[in-house]
Amino acid sequence: MEKSQVDTAESRKDILLQISNLQKSYSGVTVLSGITFSLEKGSVMGLIGENGAGKSTLIKCINGVTTPDSGEILFDGSFYSSMTIKKALSLGIVTIPQEFNLADHLSVKDNIYMGCELKKAHFFLDHRKMRIGAAELLESLGCILSPDAIVGTLNVAQKQMVEIARGLNRKCHLFIMDEPTTVLNTAETEKLFRVINRLKEQGVSVIYVSHKLAEISTICDHFTVLRDGQYITTQKTAGTSTKEMANLMVGRQLKDIYPPKPALPPPDAECLLSLQDVSESSLVKNVTFSLAKGEILGIAGLGGAGRTELAEGIYGIRRFISGKMFFKGKEVCITSPEEAVKAGIAYIPEDRQKSGTVQTFPLSWNMTLVSLLEKYCSGTFICRKKEESAAEKYISLFSIKAPSGRIRMNELSGGNQQKGVIAKSLDTSPDLFIFDEPTRGIDINSRSEIYFFIRSLAEKGTSCIIISSDLEEIIGLCPRTLVMREGRLAGILENDNINEKEIMYLATGIK
Ligand SMILES: Nc1ncnc2c1ncn2[C@@H]1O[C@H](COP(=O)(O)OP(=O)(O)OP(=O)(O)O)[C@@H](O)[C@H]1O
Ligand SMILES: [Mg+2]
Repeated sequence: MEKSQVDTAESRKDILLQISNLQKSYSGVTVLSGITFSLEKGSVMGLIGENGAGKSTLIKCINGVTTPDSGEILFDGSFYSSMTIKKALSLGIVTIPQEFNLADHLSVKDNIYMGCELKKAHFFLDHRKMRIGAAELLESLGCILSPDAIVGTLNVAQKQMVEIARGLNRKCHLFIMDEPTTVLNTAETEKLFRVINRLKEQGVSVIYVSHKLAEISTICDHFTVLRDGQYITTQKTAGTSTKEMANLMVGRQLKDIYPPKPALPPPDAECLLSLQDVSESSLVKNVTFSLAKGEILGIAGLGGAGRTELAEGIYGIRRFISGKMFFKGKEVCITSPEEAVKAGIAYIPEDRQKSGTVQTFPLSWNMTLVSLLEKYCSGTFICRKKEESAAEKYISLFSIKAPSGRIRMNELSGGNQQKGVIAKSLDTSPDLFIFDEPTRGIDINSRSEIYFFIRSLAEKGTSCIIISSDLEEIIGLCPRTLVMREGRLAGILENDNINEKEIMYLATGIK
């Protein structure tokens, strides 16, 4: 309810947003309590915290997607005990949500202008103007994309750019970005930062949520830490290291986040997977490599380099049109994910919302989905007890923040959903694990747990392929990495040669 009270106190002049004592619970479980902080006009505030700390919920209280139980929001001089989506938009509170909120069947332009369509003669949609406007917005983000492309056909990085362009198209005083760069590469992130700096110059305030703490250091003036739904501190980024930020997030001193790198497999190591000259239409071209048993192999490259398409070819989502694939010593032709699972291949897709989860199913159902028939069915019945105890095992293995396996997938925080997706693939006991952007949206502590987990899988003889835009992850985890460019294998790097410079040389083709 709006109290329509204007606070003219001098001390509040530069404050755009002041949150006081905000409280929120879901089904009796407190998710936010006593949250109090303020945000100055024209400043960028980083919001950090572990998965499930309450960052997205706080954002949803500010932008009216959800209603807090108590507390107050002061925005541009007026107090609100709650916000509505409509009110927030009219006040210029614009959000790029953590999970895509796009209409897949509509074009890029129609998504960007949804709810603020341009009209001619007060009645007809002005498609020409909207097409030009959308193209200009995308160009400002350095994104080459047709305004007429259908959103459902885009990859995740392109979808993210459409979300950002849509946000930029609105009247904006407060721009909230909930993990905008999880699927963007370094160059795309830099372009986004240029846009943020431009917004800042125009006096727009930004709340920037990210688990990439180096980004918080680069783009934010201050950062606020949430831990288990509680406000911990707000500090200046200048003079605070990312390690200190991470320690504040978890409330203790973190050790090394990467396990020791495994040695390169010897030349006579047993080969698990071998691709010889495989191509998939125009997206994967003449790729040849082999993967040893128990090896951790990275695949780096820019967005659109064909990494996901290569993985989808191995997993049978796509068909290689030429070349040969050998798995466990035999030539194979895998034509469906079902065949891939049977052969012993697991794949964690990059887009968890679209192909990784059934959002309305409970967490336990999601975790056992792939192995349901083999492990959890007796005759025509599903043994829910067995399923629940498997879910409990994975919840504890990955420290998933969930009261039980019965919680619906869409009630979990983004990072906890990602952990659920990893558990789902693990439940099939694969010989080859393909991780496509495995730590997308996962906090630093859980990320470390996943890295150690991948290392232990490899030690037990499971081979792992890590596709990642996070070069630090590739460098920290893999003793050997392929770099792809425009569908081709641009090079293979090993040990000390795996560094940001060498990867980018190969990925861009610019020496
Ligand atoms: N609709 C809902 N129903 C029940 N619980 C919910 C709902 N939405 C969020 N939660 C719970 O609230 C807590 C905070 O979730 P939130 O999404 O705010 O975390 P987050 O800090 O954004 O985490 P992440 O970094 O993983 O995105 C989680 O434990 C989550 O399960
Ligand atoms: Mg979140």
